Amino acid sequence: MASHYTLAEGCPYASNSTSVQVRNGSGGGLVLLQDTQLIETLAHFSRERIPERVVHAKAAGGYGEFEVTHDCSDITSASFLNAVGKKTEVLLRISTVGPERGSADTVRDVHGWAMKLYTDQGNLDWVFNNTPVFFIRDPIKFPSLNRSHKRHPRTNVPDANMFWDFHVGNPEGIHQIMHLFSDRGTPASLRHMNAYSGHTYKFTQEDGSFKYVKIHIKTQLGVKNLTRETAVQIAGENPDYLVQDLYDAIETGKYPVWNVYVQVMEPSEAEKYKWNIFDMTKVWPHKDFPLRQIGRLTLNRNPKNYFTDIEQAAFSPSTMVPGIAPSADPVLQARMFAYPDAARYRLGVNYQQLPTNAASSPVYCPFQRDGFMNFSTNYGDDPNYVGSILRPTTFAPASNGNGRVASTLTEHEKWVGEACSFVTQISDEDFEQATALWEVLGRETGHQERFIGNVADHLRGVTDSRLRNMVYDLFSHVDAGLAARIQVATEASLS
Ligand code: HEM
Repeated sequence: MASHYTLAEGCPYASNSTSVQVRNGSGGGLVLLQDTQLIETLAHFSRERIPERVVHAKAAGGYGEFEVTHDCSDITSASFLNAVGKKTEVLLRISTVGPERGSADTVRDVHGWAMKLYTDQGNLDWVFNNTPVFFIRDPIKFPSLNRSHKRHPRTNVPDANMFWDFHVGNPEGIHQIMHLFSDRGTPASLRHMNAYSGHTYKFTQEDGSFKYVKIHIKTQLGVKNLTRETAVQIAGENPDYLVQDLYDAIETGKYPVWNVYVQVMEPSEAEKYKWNIFDMTKVWPHKDFPLRQIGRLTLNRNPKNYFTDIEQAAFSPSTMVPGIAPSADPVLQARMFAYPDAARYRLGVNYQQLPTNAASSPVYCPFQRDGFMNFSTNYGDDPNYVGSILRPTTFAPASNGNGRVASTLTEHEKWVGEACSFVTQISDEDFEQATALWEVLGRETGHQERFIGNVADHLRGVTDSRLRNMVYDLFSHVDAGLAARIQVATEASLS
């Protein structure tokens, strides 16, 4: 611990707040190129931003623990789940999706849920959303989807025309649109919000067998949302309302708690099930696959430094541990490439060495060496190639080969080719779950009316009447009455 301020290389500061100047009397002077402190101070300031995330830039974060509450050894061999009461440290980052880092966090948007579990067999990232479904089921549409929700290339403001143009052209997202324009599109606090894997994952056993699962994380505080009017008002008064609420709650000991559940499906059931389980625009109704609790999540510690702990955190669906494996969902498969790729761009090739991303279990990865900003011991003189005789010195090697290998392989679906072949076609089935959700909204007083108001308020930004008519047509496949009411409300607000 230093007893005084120093330059980054250790030389003591001459002064905190004065540059070296050649002066004439007490007036202004000439600064000198030899003032390393001044130059370093200015040069580092100019470089203190890193690229913000291309999506999910605005966020809150916190630490906590995941605790196993129920035995689940019959469905997974994951070590962090292998004993009731076992606890694992967790980092959680909750974000909006479309707007930038400085944007208002009560705007209507899907909310991201990125959770890193520092397990005893490596890190596990659960990169979820607060909605159980997604807008697309073909990953090639992801950049278009997000650009249509962001700023118009000419006006530089969000544009309802391009938003609805995308969604009319890609109607498989109607189920997610129903969630987005319901009250859940504007959570009242991040503590009162659920999260869902959306994708089907696999829980696996050591013999290579598996079950399909969807993961649900449900707040013990109950879901609470804002109305559109309140959300808009708060966005003006305190754009960091949700971030501040989470920070203050943790700081004052009001630790938020969520229950963690899985829906479990046998591979044989998946082949016969009505819905393609690799299509993330669909849920598995709870009546078919009830929730089964596996654990509990508590947030109990704020980050000490937002940049090092949260901004430098990198999450990826590909960061997995034995006992959990990806399914053949094409969106999940594409995400497993996209996130590490984004992290290498945003944080650099050695991003896994940053303290917030480093596993708490032992890591031995000597075939991934060197690179910019490598601040590890870089495996010393251990072999940097896969050979036959030379042995690593950093751990005791197995009796044959030049290193230990722990198999984490899981069987692949045999029927996968068939299931994926109809991924991009639209059919009436794509509207069934959206219609069911519309009926669910009808069970809560005023929710359907608020939904119509939320859509109409957004839709009146569409300047092309042909596009508005296409949107009414889109909603007519959900419910004819809904479409008519949206049309009346929208056109009335325009006249
Ligand atoms: C093809 C589909 C998708 C692609 C290509 C994609 C890509 C990305 C990229 C590039 C980032 C920024 C990562 C970074 O800079 O560190 C990101 C962030 C994120 N995505 Fe996706 N995404 C997709 C779908 C989804 C889905 C379906 C979900 C949820 C179920 C999701 C949840 C998130 C979350 C929570 C974050 C923020 C992660 C963080 O806090 O660092 N994304 N996504």
